[in-house]
Amino acid sequence: MDKIRIRGGQQLNGTIRIGGAKNAALPLMAACLLTDEPLILSNVPHLADITTMANLLGQHGAHVSLEGHDTEGGHTGRVMSLTAKDITSTTAPYDLVRRMRASVLVLGPLVAREGVATVSLPGGCAIGTRPVDIHLSGLEALGAEIEVESGYIRASAPGGLRGARFAFPKVSVGATENLLLAASLADGVTTLENAAREPEITDLAECLIAMGAKIEGVGTDTLVIEGVESLHGARHEIMPDRIEAGTYAMAVAIAGGSVTLEGASLSHFDAAMAPLRRTGTSVEETSSGGLIVSRNGARLDAVDVETDPYPGFPTDLQAQFLAMMTVADGASVITETIFENRFMHVPELHRMGANITLQGRSALVRGVEKLEGAPVMASDLRASASLVIAGLAAGGVTEVRRIYHLDRGYERLEEKLQLVGADIERVEDTE
Ligand code: UD1
Repeated sequence: MDKIRIRGGQQLNGTIRIGGAKNAALPLMAACLLTDEPLILSNVPHLADITTMANLLGQHGAHVSLEGHDTEGGHTGRVMSLTAKDITSTTAPYDLVRRMRASVLVLGPLVAREGVATVSLPGGCAIGTRPVDIHLSGLEALGAEIEVESGYIRASAPGGLRGARFAFPKVSVGATENLLLAASLADGVTTLENAAREPEITDLAECLIAMGAKIEGVGTDTLVIEGVESLHGARHEIMPDRIEAGTYAMAVAIAGGSVTLEGASLSHFDAAMAPLRRTGTSVEETSSGGLIVSRNGARLDAVDVETDPYPGFPTDLQAQFLAMMTVADGASVITETIFENRFMHVPELHRMGANITLQGRSALVRGVEKLEGAPVMASDLRASASLVIAGLAAGGVTEVRRIYHLDRGYERLEEKLQLVGADIERVEDTE
């Protein structure tokens, strides 16, 4: 296993290229199960979660291949071809689903196309219990019969799914995606109310429309889907990763310097950048489609944030923002409203000298002058990124262990940070 070693104190200057969004890529890949024709996705990031999804789709019978890099359209991500000509298995086994919760996204497409699907329950996860009840009640509303038995969800709709009205009891990104996928092939009109509005859902809807789906209300909380008999192949470019971009923006804010985030779009994450600007960090759009993030001199101002579904502040940037606030001038309150256990980074940041008090779903962060490097342990994907961010500003050496979490969602993080001047390396963890 590897660990990441950082010697803090270097300013960051230069350019970081932002990759395709993991959270858009995963549902887009699952969409290949809806058609027997090829779905060609470009700007595919090179991440462990993408490999897990490719393996899962492969065992359902999809043929997944990489077709090199596409440098058109200003990006250099990979091009992936996915063809599910025949579905050879409608079962998603525990061994693959337990590695990645987003595996549950195959449920909707499989039951819509094959009338049956058996998908392992994703199980627990470091940031909370994360149930899938809303995915299941939504599919039931579309006429699927659902049983949960021996750790598996069995969904069946032998006569096919039927369009229906469904109001999400709570905003859920994954459940909205699962139902959007399923409703595209249902018989009749489906109206999804209180749907999630994340840009990744818009990206999925646009790809489904290119595949022949009829969807209205894209980008709003009410999606109206008129089911079609069949979908066809399409080509689609995956949107840039707003969480990756936000993470590097916060790295620059804490370390100081000026970095161009090539390919990042402000329209995708204004809500995250507004509080960042209030810390005294400059965020400007470039004429060539990117952002310049810079901070020189003064200490960051303390700013409160509360996570919320889009267009609110994303929970996936909460840990990184909190890390930044540990060295801000003053106190801030960071409130997490989406996941119940998403402060696993706090005890690790304490080890680096941060002053944080947890009060239920809020963290009171009193900024200190400086953090001190320490050995720390990554607990989940975004918590890992927050520890790297803290390490960039800390005195001495920080070593982040269990970085397999990081590799699930950040492509070549240490190389990208090295390129802008960080003293960071991946080394073998022999302990
Ligand atoms: C997605 C993102 C994840 C992000 C999260 C919230 C992907 C692959 N992952 O996760 O990075 O942190 O959105 O922006 O896109 N819930 C239920 N029942 C359900 C479904 C969800 O109670 O059936 C709860 C969850 O436990 C959580 C909240 O709803 O408290 C939001 O979860 P959801 O939006 O579904 O997150 P994911 O789709 O899993």
